[in-house]
Amino acid sequence: MAETLEKLDDLVSLCKRRGFIFQSSDIYGGLASCYDYGPLGSELKRNVKNEWWKAAVQMRDNMVGIDCSILMHPMVWKASGHVDKFADLVTVCQKCNTRTRVDHLKNAENEPATNNDLEKMVCPSCGTTGKFSEPMAFKLMFETQMGANADDAMNVFLRPETAQGIFVNYSNVLNSSRVKIPFGIAQIGKSFRNEVTTKAFIFRTREFEQMEIEFFCEPGTDDQWYEHWKTARMQWYLDLGINKENLRFRDHDPDELAHYAKACVDVEYKFPFGQGDWQELEGVANRTDYDLRQHQRGMRAVTRWIENKRDTLGTTLPDERDDWHKGPLSYFDEPNKKRYVPYVIEPSAGADRGTLAFLVDAYAVDEVGGKPRNLLKFHPKLAPIKAAFFPLVKKEGMPEKARAMYDDMRGLFNCFYDEKGAVGRRYRRQDEAGTPFCVTVDGQTTEDNTVTVRDRDTLEQVRVNCDQIKSYLREKLDM
Ligand code: GAP
Repeated sequence: MAETLEKLDDLVSLCKRRGFIFQSSDIYGGLASCYDYGPLGSELKRNVKNEWWKAAVQMRDNMVGIDCSILMHPMVWKASGHVDKFADLVTVCQKCNTRTRVDHLKNAENEPATNNDLEKMVCPSCGTTGKFSEPMAFKLMFETQMGANADDAMNVFLRPETAQGIFVNYSNVLNSSRVKIPFGIAQIGKSFRNEVTTKAFIFRTREFEQMEIEFFCEPGTDDQWYEHWKTARMQWYLDLGINKENLRFRDHDPDELAHYAKACVDVEYKFPFGQGDWQELEGVANRTDYDLRQHQRGMRAVTRWIENKRDTLGTTLPDERDDWHKGPLSYFDEPNKKRYVPYVIEPSAGADRGTLAFLVDAYAVDEVGGKPRNLLKFHPKLAPIKAAFFPLVKKEGMPEKARAMYDDMRGLFNCFYDEKGAVGRRYRRQDEAGTPFCVTVDGQTTEDNTVTVRDRDTLEQVRVNCDQIKSYLREKLDM
């Protein structure tokens, strides 16, 4: 029976040892909460993103993709509410000066703070109880300057979510493609948040990648689409091999809903930190018509500013017009002859957080030949290397044959060739990399034109004819 992951540290060291994930700027002592993906990690994360794109865009009739810039007009963030509302409530420990999110504080019994009651809360840094400052808002957006000249440089933000790029391009997409409501726009890209507490490896970082869908639908059909996406997103994790018992839904309480949401549910994963805590993996939210209506106000603010520079752009938004439902971001529903501002369902996943969940879930240690064996039981679609090719020994034409098979296969999927060291050690290295199949050319190959194919999980070895190896692997890998 294989052991699963209990301590995140075991995974962190495997990731460094095998080139999945490194601390950013490692040779300079590292940069907190920033990480780099190594040779295996970058393949893994790319596979996660590709599978998401396939499920979100490629396999659906009513979905299209987009790739927006990270820097956007500052008015985007004023209109979306991020400038005024995207902040965490924090408190500072008077003893050690550490700033902590109020919703992350726990008392000695490990219960969270309710109603900002800080007296019984314990500082996670120094362990002091109840010595906290008044809670205050801490803004999460990174700000920078755009433009070379000091006098006309503009303050801009690094986007804290990819979603807004989709909202501000919604009418561009409608006007340039043949989509009709209901339809969705998907995007994968970097987001940035100056998080107060970063934790647990790549779980919460200040620079991360999101995979977001904004699905536009007719008001009144939103509850039904919310249920649709909730089910679809859970199924995606299950289809890629995450154990069912490690996943669950958690509905947001009304007081924890984001400022734009009518309803929100988290897909949670049982991560091995925070005392085996369930943690958010992805959120599915009903954002209503909030964002499009806000951007109609933002568009008017800019028009007004251009016409008569009386307002300071970015400090105020004009009131919503009475006829907002006929505004520039409204939609004319031709078959039903009606105009409305669409409602939006948003499944929002983290590529890094998803990658962490796939790593944690795949981690296993079993025993082979009386020795512990580390392995990553990735779903074949996610495995960084799909198949490794080995000559049993470096003689009798075996390297040439194994190399030729590898060259023949590498155009189809990511493969690896290795001839160094004992074959048992080469198998172990591939087990730790999560490679589902190892193909070995041996003495029998010259006699009957067969090779050994070893299965990572069952350790079963079968002989396959060299002429059939390509179709055999394609079928096993479902590629
Ligand atoms: N557009 C909605 C939105 O951004 P969110 O719940 O703040 O919602 C969605 O973020 C997902 O993005 C999260 O479920 C998580 O997977 C990922 N995410 C958010 N902040 C993150 C961070 N600091 N580090 C890594 N992933 C993060």
